[in-house]
Amino acid sequence: MQSVIKKVVLPAAGLGTRFLPATKASPKEMLPIVDKPLIQYAVEEAISAGIDEFVIITGKNKRTIEDHFDSAYRLEEKLKSSGKQKLLEEINKLNDVHFAYIRQKSALGLGHAIYCAKPFVGKEPFAVILSDDIIDPQYPLLAEMINIHKKTKATVIALQEVPKEEVNRYGIIKGIKKGDIYKITDLVEKPKPQLAPSNLAIIGRYILTPSIFDALEIQKPGAGGEIQLTDALRDLLNKEEIFGVIIKGQRYDAGDKLGFIKATIDFALKNPELSEGVSQYIKEKAKEL
Ligand code: G1P
Repeated sequence: MQSVIKKVVLPAAGLGTRFLPATKASPKEMLPIVDKPLIQYAVEEAISAGIDEFVIITGKNKRTIEDHFDSAYRLEEKLKSSGKQKLLEEINKLNDVHFAYIRQKSALGLGHAIYCAKPFVGKEPFAVILSDDIIDPQYPLLAEMINIHKKTKATVIALQEVPKEEVNRYGIIKGIKKGDIYKITDLVEKPKPQLAPSNLAIIGRYILTPSIFDALEIQKPGAGGEIQLTDALRDLLNKEEIFGVIIKGQRYDAGDKLGFIKATIDFALKNPELSEGVSQYIKEKAKEL
């Protein structure tokens, strides 16, 4: 069933510097956790929340993303003729999904990447998924956020408490807790720990109203010299409410090497073909430590 949110924007134009040299010639979003690239987890998460229109904001070296979501005729023929039905189904399962691609010509930041989606999104609310934040696929975070949006008609962002010394890696909010959700009163992108208004960090899931484009249009470079979505959200607070919801399931920061390794281990342990071998190996390794 299609949700009230029909479109999702997937920014994929960053330089991926934390994963160099792996990301020198191929995008960070194509790094695999077990056997699926990061961006495919994001696409499947959106589909399970009822979203079926995708726009991927690409940059340099992003051709592999387009190829990944395209049909692969020769590979399909090969799998068919060798009777590899399961693999064939796996590579074909997103064949009916439509993707639009918009190229961000220079990496000016997340806010600018979202702004590039304006012609595709138009005047309706939409979702944003940052593929390097991986959410446990069992946990329907986006559906929960869409429900809050249905009730409030407002912007909704995902939040997680982080250790005080890590606040400078995130957008940090200040808010008033009302039941399960926060009414946000301020947002700061990557503050120094001593200046952070809390330790509630923005996680890469957003339901945005189209007014964000007006706020982004006039944004000046912020933290790291980039056009920041967080700064635009802060401006938006002058005319619209913004709500935050604390995520209840497991989240992995796959944009960070340790987070990426943790996600790989957990997903491998949940994979029926791998769980036994991997857990055996981990036990053997643990004895050596
Ligand atoms: C981006 C956002 C930041 C948010 C983070 C979540 O930062 O700018 O507000 O907390 O994603 O992963 P990035 O990780 O792209 O530097």
